[in-house]
Amino acid sequence: MRTPVVAANWKMNKDLSEAKSLVSALLADYKKANTEVYIAPPFVFLNEVQQHIKESGIQLAAQNMNAAASGAHTGEISSSMLKSVGASTVILGHSERRDIYGETDAQINEKVKTALAADMQVIFCFGEQLEERKASTHFEVVKSQLASGLAGVDADAYASIVLAYEPVWAIGTGETASPEQAQEMHAFIREYLRKEVSVEVADQTRILYGGSVKPANAADLFSRPDIDGGLIGGASLQADDFLAIVNAAS
Ligand code: 13P
Repeated sequence: MRTPVVAANWKMNKDLSEAKSLVSALLADYKKANTEVYIAPPFVFLNEVQQHIKESGIQLAAQNMNAAASGAHTGEISSSMLKSVGASTVILGHSERRDIYGETDAQINEKVKTALAADMQVIFCFGEQLEERKASTHFEVVKSQLASGLAGVDADAYASIVLAYEPVWAIGTGETASPEQAQEMHAFIREYLRKEVSVEVADQTRILYGGSVKPANAADLFSRPDIDGGLIGGASLQADDFLAIVNAAS
């Protein structure tokens, strides 16, 4: 049995007082259950959010990280900084990092290796663009993102990796991949792991879906055999919506 995961990616939203209000509203109604729950606020709120959630069972995650350990990297954040404020999970490879900030598969792979070496858990994101789906190259694209982004990762290290399939055309658009489309891709990803890594890794790795997950579609998506939870953007900014999605995974 794979434990479900639901992670909130706040992206670049909220100021400090809004962040505190959202966390208070979440904690007021959150009941710890079987699902692992993560909140990934902007870097500047990590420490504050952690002070509120640390006894709750909700875990802290970061939205990005630099591959270097320390030094002359103005504006960047290292794995040890994240761990020192309680974030031992990091989202890497998000399509917004790839598309807006030009992160390559090779750079993402460096970050993944740094995070794993620092004993952090990685939520590794990937997914095809609309044109790639229209051209029916989506399976090929996803396979290549997995192969490059996770190159050189040992089978043992997959225990610290959660995969997040986020088709770019479904992010923030209100257009969700249908549960059938999502399940089809998740089954493909599991088969890829079975062939390229191991049967155990394929059986045990949590594969999340992300892209316009809402309370109304979460239960249907999460009921599919290869969908183990979600990475939530817009709907994670409202406490009641996010908690409804968490409950749909349990
Ligand atoms: P939305 O839920 O807003 O579509 O965002 C998904 C996402 O990118 C989560 O990382």
